[in-house]
Amino acid sequence: MTQFSWTDDLCTGSSLIDGDHRKLVDLVNTFFQSMQSGEGNGRVSKAMNDLIAYTREHFAREEVEMERIQYVAAPAHRAEHTKLLKQLVELKKMLDAGGRMNIPAVADFLSRWLRDHILRTDMKLAGVLKRQRGSTPVPQLH
Ligand SMILES: [Fe+2]
Repeated sequence: MTQFSWTDDLCTGSSLIDGDHRKLVDLVNTFFQSMQSGEGNGRVSKAMNDLIAYTREHFAREEVEMERIQYVAAPAHRAEHTKLLKQLVELKKMLDAGGRMNIPAVADFLSRWLRDHILRTDMKLAGVLKRQRGSTPVPQLH
C-alpha cells in the first residue's frame, strides 16, 4: 500500500511548522488509503477536501509567521503556496470528474508536492524563525 513516510530530514526544527507538516502527512496518507480502498468517490473526495482545507490553514499560519518576522523571501514563498493550492484544486477537479485514476502517479505527485516544498522552501523559513526565537529580531541580509 502506498504510504508517505515521515523521515527525519523533513524536520525543520520549528515545532509550529513540524506539527502542521505531520498532520499534512497524515491527511495525505488518509487520501492514499481512500484511493486504494475502492470504496468509491465519496471517500476520496472527502479526503481531498480535508487535505485542501488543512493545507489552506497551514499556509495561512506560515504566512502570518512570515509577516511577523518581516521575512524577505515571503513573496516567493507565498507564490509557491498559491501554486501548490492550485495544483491540489486541479487534482480535486480531476477526481470529481470521475475519470480513471493512475493511483501510483497521483501518489507520486502528492508525495513530491509535500516533500519538495518542505525541503526546499519551508526549511529556509524555519531556519530564520529559529534564529529569531528568543532574541530580538536580527536584521536579515538582502
Ligand atoms: Fe510553506
